Amino acid sequence: MRLRSTVAGGLLSLALLAAGCGRLPVEQTERYVPPDQVTDFHALYNTNCRACHGPAGENGPAMDLANPEYQALVDDATLRRIISNGMPGTQMPAWAQSAGGMLTDAQVNAIIEGMRKEWSKPNPFQEATPPAYEQPSGADAKTQTADVKQGQQLYQAHCASCHSGHARQELTSPIYLALISDQALRSIIIAGRPDIGQPDWRHDNGQLSPQDVTSIVAYLSSLRTNTAISAPPVPLSSRR
Ligand code: HEC
Ligand code: HEC
Repeated sequence: MRLRSTVAGGLLSLALLAAGCGRLPVEQTERYVPPDQVTDFHALYNTNCRACHGPAGENGPAMDLANPEYQALVDDATLRRIISNGMPGTQMPAWAQSAGGMLTDAQVNAIIEGMRKEWSKPNPFQEATPPAYEQPSGADAKTQTADVKQGQQLYQAHCASCHSGHARQELTSPIYLALISDQALRSIIIAGRPDIGQPDWRHDNGQLSPQDVTSIVAYLSSLRTNTAISAPPVPLSSRR
């Protein structure tokens, strides 16, 4: 009797052990990871970026980061600066802890590495050389005025056909311009937004030169008014 119960007990604990074994690894992978220790790209992107930049980097209210042309246009140092410090005056927040955000430098680097791995493609421009990423700064007042004038004509020739009327975003509206920086306009004009149908700088009716891009951005920038800038930002449920 005694022996039999020991055998039964042994079998029971073996069965329990077997059942437990099946569960053990799952419990291990679900263990709590403190937020500042997360370095998985998808986890970081979905928690912090997806609300504005869209699922899988497309079709969000802000810039499609998954556009391979954008990935080719922007270098690592620029991505690190923008993600860490945000784009002041816009809804792009600063993410680095050193700038008041929630991410460590290692996490910012993990996001950049992940974007490169998932969203860049070799040679997306083929033979073409795109205009430089950054809007040239420091133009004197005279050049600035010339750029704005030139930009207005170019806008009529290259953009107005698609962007006037009610069907599309009214780019010349000061309210729209108050929410978007010159750099974001420039990035979109050069790299396009394939997710929403915006062409890149190689338009059907003629490729824009680097100077054309600069002039169009200068023109749109000149339409931004201080009153619109003080308008309340559109609320976006994103962080926290
Ligand atoms: C062939 C048509 C077409 C042309 C030409 C075109 N766009 Fe667009 N653009 C679109 C479409 C479609 C969208 C996405 C829908 C929308 O925003 O209305 C878009 C969106 C944009 C956006 C993003 C708007 C947003 O939602 O924040 C910007 C900025 C923009 N275009 C700038 C320009 C500029 C500047 C030019 C001229 C250099 C231009 N586009 C020429 C079709 C065009
Ligand atoms: C609250 C909305 C919001 C969130 C969240 C957000 N962004 Fe942005 N982001 C924007 C907007 C809006 C812009 C364009 C800003 C402008 O007008 O210059 C932008 C711009 C950018 C740009 C620069 C685009 C360019 O023109 O070069 C990068 C890169 C970027 N975001 C990456 C990220 C990453 C990575 C995350 C997550 C860690 C993130 N963003 C989270 C709204 C957001």
